[in-house]
Amino acid sequence: MSEISFRLNGKVVNATVDGYERLVDLLRDGLGCTEVKEGCGEGECGACTVLLDGKPVTSCIMFAFQVAGRDVTTVKGLGAEELNRIEEAMVSEGAVQCGFCTPGLVLTIKALLDEDRTPTQEEIRLALSGNLCRCTGYEMIFKATARLAGGEGGHE
Ligand code: FES
Ligand code: FES
Repeated sequence: MSEISFRLNGKVVNATVDGYERLVDLLRDGLGCTEVKEGCGEGECGACTVLLDGKPVTSCIMFAFQVAGRDVTTVKGLGAEELNRIEEAMVSEGAVQCGFCTPGLVLTIKALLDEDRTPTQEEIRLALSGNLCRCTGYEMIFKATARLAGGEGGHE
């Protein structure tokens, strides 16, 4: 067991973790962040995505101790305005159905747009390629991201 301290959605938290505890388990079971979803548990689906120092990571294949001293953001850590903007674009493009993939996607989209306000369609597809969605067929998600980037379909 070891004590770690890190920032979760802007607030410092302290936690006791064992060496093999996964970040997704610390967040969901230890800290009540049930907005972080677990799908495959193998780093393949992106449902468990959180931002680590602003970059998307899959929390099911990270150890909890790896976030010591760092910044972790779940979808609940986004400002209301930013979250509403992303969600509105997704809903209006039909990119939310069952919603299981949505928290991870919102964070991946945020990280992409923080890095590049005007991604190309190809860059959007590449950035979102680690977030699987069983429901929407992806086109609506790509369109929503392009809309957020200021275009109807993203530029070439
Ligand atoms: Fe982590 Fe699927 S649950 S990538
Ligand atoms: Fe159901 Fe994406 S909306 S998995």
